[in-house]
Amino acid sequence: MDTRFPFPAYPNGWFRAAYSDELKSGDIKSLRYFGEDLIAYRGSSGAAYILDAHCRHLGAHLGVGGRVEGEHVVCPFHGWKWNGDGSCAQIPYCDRIPTGAKTRAWPVVEKNGVIFIWHHDRGAAPSFELPDVEEIGSDAWTPLEVRKWKVRSRWLDMNENAVDRIHFIYVHGTHTAPETEVEMKDHVLACRSRMKMGSPQGEFTGGIDTTDYGPGLQTVRVTGVVDTLMLNTATPIDDEYTDVSFAYSLSKSGGDATQGVGAAIIKDLEKQMGQDIPIWENKKYFDRPVLCENDGQFGIYRKWMRQFFSEQW
Ligand code: FES
Ligand SMILES: [Fe+2]
Repeated sequence: MDTRFPFPAYPNGWFRAAYSDELKSGDIKSLRYFGEDLIAYRGSSGAAYILDAHCRHLGAHLGVGGRVEGEHVVCPFHGWKWNGDGSCAQIPYCDRIPTGAKTRAWPVVEKNGVIFIWHHDRGAAPSFELPDVEEIGSDAWTPLEVRKWKVRSRWLDMNENAVDRIHFIYVHGTHTAPETEVEMKDHVLACRSRMKMGSPQGEFTGGIDTTDYGPGLQTVRVTGVVDTLMLNTATPIDDEYTDVSFAYSLSKSGGDATQGVGAAIIKDLEKQMGQDIPIWENKKYFDRPVLCENDGQFGIYRKWMRQFFSEQW
């Protein structure tokens, strides 16, 4: 199939499966990520689990009519009960559980208000941990505000934005390109930029510090007027579309007066997203683009992203 990308659709890493508040105790949520049908459910202990959606018995979809009982999910078709680790807890009409009664349980970690799922194309265990983002849940910061987009592209291509300093002028209308320093350490990529940004009080020079933790989680800290945090997450839906979401939080340190400015900064960042999307949805990824010397640090970015694919292209 002719895709616009030489690299696979599903990198290895942690990805947002849901925001924590989208899954209450006793809830089952049907998900479609990595080209797979999945369910997330939350047991009465508060723990979240993710399993393949289709019951290993005769294939019913656990998210359609299934229910949570304690830490189990109960299939609507013949009542088999599944544990969060993928083992079968009980068959209500048979004492002997067949040895093959196992379904795929996906590694899950919940932090920063997000339920993350580990995807690895060869089934390998998680190879890195996600950080605790200190602003989230702190009294000094506003609660996360969430925005979502379904974009016809792959995040590792979209995210190249962080090092693409020149596009700020042509796509986002800034007067100058940011000065960007890029640093890579294992699965973490840090980009520190200084640039002019818009606000109701006119333009100001702000800092944008972007840190990627693998292919599915990015924090962006904007400083200059009101300190702003964005938690950016992107999860492949299938080989064409990505579920992209930004969650925002503002520092309360400037008092109420700054909240309007903060809201304007967020509006500007949302506007930038709207400007980027048509480019992303229609561009093609060239493995060997023709770059000029002022383009920025594409080389480091591309080296960093290769580590999240088992097979190289
Ligand atoms: S299909 Fe799930 S119990 Fe039969
Ligand atoms: Fe952009």
